[in-house]
Amino acid sequence: MRFLLRLLGAMWIATLAVTIGFAWLELQEERRELVADLERRAALAADAVREPAERLVGRGARTGYERLLARFARADRAIAIYDDLGGLLAASADVRADLGVISPLVSEALRGTAARTMRVVLGRATWVHVVPLVWEDRSVGAAAVLLDARHLETREWSLWRRTAVRLGVLGLLLTGITFLVVRWSVTQPIARMAAWTRQIKTGKEVAPPPTADASLFGPLAQEVDSLARSLARARIAAEHEARLRLAGESVWTEERLKQFVRVRFDDRPIFVVSNREPVSHMREGRAVRSVRPASGLVTALEPVMLACGGVWVAHGSGGADRDVGARIGLPEGDPQYTLRRVWLDAAEESGYYYGFANEGLWPLCHIVHERPQFRAEDWGHYCAVNEKFARTLLEEMESTPAPILLVQDYHFALLPQMVKRARPDARVALFWHIPWPNFEAFRICPWQHEILLGMLGADLVGFQTQFHCNNFLETVERTIEGRVDWDRFAVVRGDHTAHVLPLPISVAPEFDAPGNGPDRTRLLADLGAEVEFLGIGVDRVDYTKGLPERFRAIRRFFERWPEYRRRVVFVQLASPSRSRIPRYQALLHETEETVRQVNEALAERGWKPVVYHQRHHEHAEIQPWYLHADFCMVTSLHDGMNLVAKEFVVTQQQGDGVLILSRFAGAANDLRDALLVNPYDIDDVAGAVHRAVTMERDERRRRMRRMVSQVQEHSVYRWAAMLLAELDRMPLGVSLARE
Ligand code: F6P
Repeated sequence: MRFLLRLLGAMWIATLAVTIGFAWLELQEERRELVADLERRAALAADAVREPAERLVGRGARTGYERLLARFARADRAIAIYDDLGGLLAASADVRADLGVISPLVSEALRGTAARTMRVVLGRATWVHVVPLVWEDRSVGAAAVLLDARHLETREWSLWRRTAVRLGVLGLLLTGITFLVVRWSVTQPIARMAAWTRQIKTGKEVAPPPTADASLFGPLAQEVDSLARSLARARIAAEHEARLRLAGESVWTEERLKQFVRVRFDDRPIFVVSNREPVSHMREGRAVRSVRPASGLVTALEPVMLACGGVWVAHGSGGADRDVGARIGLPEGDPQYTLRRVWLDAAEESGYYYGFANEGLWPLCHIVHERPQFRAEDWGHYCAVNEKFARTLLEEMESTPAPILLVQDYHFALLPQMVKRARPDARVALFWHIPWPNFEAFRICPWQHEILLGMLGADLVGFQTQFHCNNFLETVERTIEGRVDWDRFAVVRGDHTAHVLPLPISVAPEFDAPGNGPDRTRLLADLGAEVEFLGIGVDRVDYTKGLPERFRAIRRFFERWPEYRRRVVFVQLASPSRSRIPRYQALLHETEETVRQVNEALAERGWKPVVYHQRHHEHAEIQPWYLHADFCMVTSLHDGMNLVAKEFVVTQQQGDGVLILSRFAGAANDLRDALLVNPYDIDDVAGAVHRAVTMERDERRRRMRRMVSQVQEHSVYRWAAMLLAELDRMPLGVSLARE
């Protein structure tokens, strides 16, 4: 209220000053015009009176004055005639009694100059104009014209009255409008925000109110929002901890990981390096949009960074990244860690990322019968980009003693050795997210020695499965000099030991997208079909994911069990990936073509078996599909882990969806309650779809519950804790001799 009064007071004072100021100026202007009019009229009258008056006074006439007065005087105009000594010869009767006030003007006229001014005569404003009377070249007297000027005052008063009314109306309008604006834009939003924070305090999960005016409340709302989110996160973590304590389980949570890092590493920041950045910025018209890339690596690492804080070094690949900055706090609005972007030019990106990493190492490590392409210039770029990232990391780690570095994936095979040489005190882990092939497959790589030596620069090399660890150690044993210690699962070279460990990666125990998506009825209605069963697939369009094979298996399912036509629909969310590579372009085409053929063969009025959405999907968009699906298909031909399978499971905490999972995905080791399939065997996959839609509810529930427990107990927090614990155990101060 006090704010409103202050605001109104200030506005009133400003309005008063401006209105009065303008009224005064208007008055002056009008007065000038009225006086000019009086002056003109008085001068004309004086001119008219002068000649007959000069004749009478000059000749010394005793009579004739009454006629002159009768001729020129009017109700609003009085006349007075004086002799050369200023004696009054004649005057209109109505002013005669108070002519003393004009004597100074008469004297001036007798001295030869006309005089004019405003005077009060008989209590009335009067314009007086006195002219000299000259007869035969000598001054013989003066004639005065007195004009009634009372209308000047009348006009003045009416102007002030008008001004007062104007002021009153303006004041009322201003008060009303200000009151409404303050109520809508200030009082109500603040009241809503207060109600929201009150609800949050009581532990309810409520969406923040819409921000009324971003320019006014944006920063405040953002701060309150981020505070509320931190609070909510802390509360969830605390509740989780409490639940776990009650259940006596030993599950890793975000909070527990935080505490672990605090105790073991004295809160030192953690450094992560990956090719893919957790958030890309894209330009959309004039606006800049944050996009979370379709990447299992990001899905896994982001919760760890949110828990531990630190610096994540990655390739700034978004179109608007440079406009946003090379070093930014994430999540935007509630920063918990720093993203440091590394810029690559087109040649570097093409040689290192598209070329060596994705046309060379990717098909080399995935057994999908795709021939790797090895080009010397790509290798040159791969080495140079690894150097570039190493330099950036060293710069970031400069002031951190014994830094912890988690290197991610096949893009940075050389980086562990580069960093370790410059910072022997660093504890370096390399985690290889994709499979490691057997020795026979790997040895076709022309730079196999350099790759292995680069990787072995790490203190710890992690793979998704024991099988990949075995393949790696065998490759090392048969390729380079050094001792493979099979008992300790380590490679000893000089005074440096690299430990090799299976560390199956996972996801956070809760799917983090806000759960306000459409419900099942709405999802199905949007598909335009009255189906009973919803199947879902979420993949990058990559030849390792087995998409065309999956659609062919779905076709086989409907052919073998036609009674399920119109009752089952399969929705594929497909995110285009690496589409500059010709093989990926061909795959996009092949995938679309396969969907087209399946639908053409089977579709009936109002129903088609496969709904294919090919575009980037945000996390929040995917969640409702996971939540309401009756079955999810992860049928990769080969996959390091595949986190879509685990995301589906954690989203189905209360559900009974069926997971159909490729035996050749690392996730198959962890999720034994999935329906495991050979993705190359179309009948096998079709049979699994049939099993999914015919399975008893109890069995579906039991299977899903076991898988949920598995993922929650082996979440990404546990993965990070195991990795960090292993690193912590490594002896320090190891120097690497130049190879
Ligand atoms: O599986 C390997 C991997 O690097 C993942 O970490 C990630 O999910 C995927 O490939 C993404 O590929 P890209 O970063 O090339 O789009």
